[in-house]
Amino acid sequence: MSPFDFRPRTRILFGTGEFARLGEVARELGGTRCLLVADPGMVEAGYVQEAIRTLKARRMDVFGFHEFEASPSAAMIEAGRAFADPLQINLIVGLGGGSSMDCAKGINFVLSNGGTIRDYWGYGNAKRPMLPMIAVPTTAGTGSEAQTYAVISDDATRVKMACGDAKAAFRVAILDPKLTVSQPAALTAATGYDAISHALETLVSTRRNAISECFSREAWRLLNDNYERVLANPSDLEARGAMLAGASLAGLAIENSMLGATHACAYPLTAHYDIAHGVAIALLLPHVVEWNSQVA
Ligand SMILES: [Fe+2]
Repeated sequence: MSPFDFRPRTRILFGTGEFARLGEVARELGGTRCLLVADPGMVEAGYVQEAIRTLKARRMDVFGFHEFEASPSAAMIEAGRAFADPLQINLIVGLGGGSSMDCAKGINFVLSNGGTIRDYWGYGNAKRPMLPMIAVPTTAGTGSEAQTYAVISDDATRVKMACGDAKAAFRVAILDPKLTVSQPAALTAATGYDAISHALETLVSTRRNAISECFSREAWRLLNDNYERVLANPSDLEARGAMLAGASLAGLAIENSMLGATHACAYPLTAHYDIAHGVAIALLLPHVVEWNSQVA
């Protein structure tokens, strides 16, 4: 049997309406001055205002950072650091899709440990403690809330830098299916396909083990049973919840295993042709499955 080192680091709170507990959870982590990292779409959707309300109800000062885009770059991380630096932040909330959560992690690296994000490319390069973080995903896709890596693009080369550290784990992830209902169908389709590929690639990876297989299999069951359901009926909260939970479990599978050729081939498509990650994955996964089937 393959060796493993399973260390759960993130408390996962799941349920419809759990978003309202953000302030309470933030207080439990000792937060009083919160950096809220949320992409501009979250402001438009009204989720940022809702987050501010629940945080302020617990007497927290909240500072919103929204100046970043999908697939955040090193320059965007630096802008976030410069914004947060004078604010004496003691808690970070990442609210949104994978970009918001990766951006929150990236800012945390440089805010708490100095230097530039490039210094954290690889694993375990943060020498000082990092600020506690809460993740609130609004897409059922990356599972970044369950992982210790942030993927940040180099502005000049567009190379994706995977920056990881055990200290970069979110302390709490709040999974509220209600938050995923408002996303457009195309985003549901693309992010959902990404989550499915996470479940599949971790399950067939040579790095799989008894722990990662538990997460891969249950993630696959939830995602496979509900992907078409959420596309047919976007307001089906039961199916939305299954997708959100499945995406997180697939994220845990990545954390304990490894991705495969689909992701390796998809990154250049995103870097050089601006194809959304989930779309690039959807384009490539059937071909990689077929290619692997010759030896499986
Ligand atoms: Fe992915």
